[in-house]
Amino acid sequence: MKQKAVFVCQECGSQAPKWAGRCNDCGAWNSLVEERPIEATASAGAATHRYGLMNAGTSAKLYDDVELANAMRLSTGIGEFDRVLGGGVVPGSLVLLGGEPGIGKSTLLLQAAAYFAHNVGPVLYASGEESEHQIKSRGDRLGGVASAPLYLLSETCIERILEEIARLKPALVIIDSVQTVFSLKFQSAPGSIGQVREAATQFLFAAKGQNIPTILVGHVTKDGSLAGPKVLEHVVDTVLYFEGERHHAHRVVRAVKNRFGAVSELGVFEMTGAGLKPVPNPSRLFLSERASGTPGSAVLCCVEGSRPILVEVQALVSTSTYGNARRMAIGIDQNRLSLLLAVLEKRAGLSLAGDDVYLNIAGGMSVEEPAADLSVVAAVASSIRNRGLSPSTAVFGEVGLSGEIRGIPQSALRVREALQMGFTRVILPTANLDPADVSLAGIELVGVKTVNEALDQLLP
Ligand code: TYD
Ligand code: MG
Repeated sequence: MKQKAVFVCQECGSQAPKWAGRCNDCGAWNSLVEERPIEATASAGAATHRYGLMNAGTSAKLYDDVELANAMRLSTGIGEFDRVLGGGVVPGSLVLLGGEPGIGKSTLLLQAAAYFAHNVGPVLYASGEESEHQIKSRGDRLGGVASAPLYLLSETCIERILEEIARLKPALVIIDSVQTVFSLKFQSAPGSIGQVREAATQFLFAAKGQNIPTILVGHVTKDGSLAGPKVLEHVVDTVLYFEGERHHAHRVVRAVKNRFGAVSELGVFEMTGAGLKPVPNPSRLFLSERASGTPGSAVLCCVEGSRPILVEVQALVSTSTYGNARRMAIGIDQNRLSLLLAVLEKRAGLSLAGDDVYLNIAGGMSVEEPAADLSVVAAVASSIRNRGLSPSTAVFGEVGLSGEIRGIPQSALRVREALQMGFTRVILPTANLDPADVSLAGIELVGVKTVNEALDQLLP
C-alpha cells in the first residue's frame, strides 16, 4: 500500500494533506515541507519495539512503592553547569542545550563529558557537525580528556547512534546537534520538523528505557527561538539556553524549563583559551569595570533563579538632534523603559521630551524582573541631573504607574549579596523593610514609597 505524504509546517508543526503556499494555522509563508514515512510495515514493527523499551511492566504503582533511586544526581564536574541542571544530571533525563552557533555549547559539553568519563562511566559523544579528529584536537586544547572512556562518534543517522548506545551502555550520551541527525524512517532533510521531532522522541525512549542521561544540542534561529520550535521543549525534561554576547568573554547558561530543579536558574562562565571557566562570583565580574560615581550609573541587585547578582545599569540622556527622540534599551525590555520614562516625566517632573535616552546593562547581562525598575529610574535621573550616585549604594524595587514603589520578592537575598560585595546602603521598597534585616550590621537600609522619595534619597 502506498504511504500517503503529509505536508508539515516547519514553523508550527501543523500538518496538511496537500501543499499550500501558506500555512493555514500560523500563516507562515512557504513553510510546508513534504514528509513521507519510508516503509510502513517495517518501521511500524521497529517503532512498537522501541516504545516497548520504555517500560516493560506498565501496571500502575502505589505512590509509596515508587523508588526514588533515580532522584540522585551525577555531577558534571562543572559547578555552574550542575547548578542550572538543579544539582547535577538526573539519570534517564533528556536535556536540551540551545544556543547560537559559536557560543560554546560543544566546548562545555566536551568538558563535562571528559569529567564524566573519568568519574562516572563511559560517555558517548555523537557529533554530526565535527569529525572525531576535530573534536579530539579541541579536547587536547582543553586538557584532561586523555585516558578516559570517552567515545566519539561522527554519525548523523539516529538508528546507528542508537545501536552504539545499546552496544556501549554509556553513562552519558551527548548528541551534537539534534538538527543534524536524521532517521531512516523519514525522507525529509535533517533539521526539518519531522526529523527533529523523531530524534527527540527516539532519544527520549533511549534515555528513559535504559536510564541513560542524554544531552541534545539545539541550534537557535535568528529570532532567538530553538529551531524546530515547540516540539522539542515539550518532549525534553530540561531546556537550557546558552546566552552571551559574542564579543564579551562571559557566557550565561539559563534554565527555562526544568522538571528536576528551579527554573530561571543561572550558571555563569568565562570563555578562556582553555575552555569555559565557571565564575562562582558573578557580581564581582559584572561590577569589575564600573567607574564609580559617574553620572548615569546605578547598581541593581537582581535575582536569577535562586541566585542574587549585582549588575550595573547605565543610562545616557542626551539632547535629541532630530525631531523624534530615540529610546534604546539593551538588556532590558524596551517597553518597560518607555513606561518608566513616562512615570519619571509625569510623577517626578523630569522633562525628557526632547531627549534621546539610551539604557544598557553593563557586561551583556539581561534582566527581566520588575525589581530592576528603580535602578533604571535612578540611572536616568542621575544622567539628566549629571550627578553621580553614591558608589556604595545599591537599589531594587518595582515602580508602579502612579509613581509608587512596590515590594518585590526575595529582598533579604539581595540585601545580603549587596552587603557581601561591600555596599553600605540599599534603597528598597518600604514594603520589603524587614525588622530582621534592619539590624544587619554594616548596611543601611532605606525604605522608599514613591519615585520622588527614592530620588531624594539617591540624589539629595
Ligand atoms: P563551540 O563550543 O564550538 O560553539 P558551539 O558548539 O556553541 O557552536 O565554541 C566555539 C567558540 O569558542 C569559538 O569561537 C572559539 C571559542 N573557544 C575559545 O575561546 N576557547 C576554547 O578553549 C575553545 C575550545 C573555544
Ligand atoms: Mg558545536
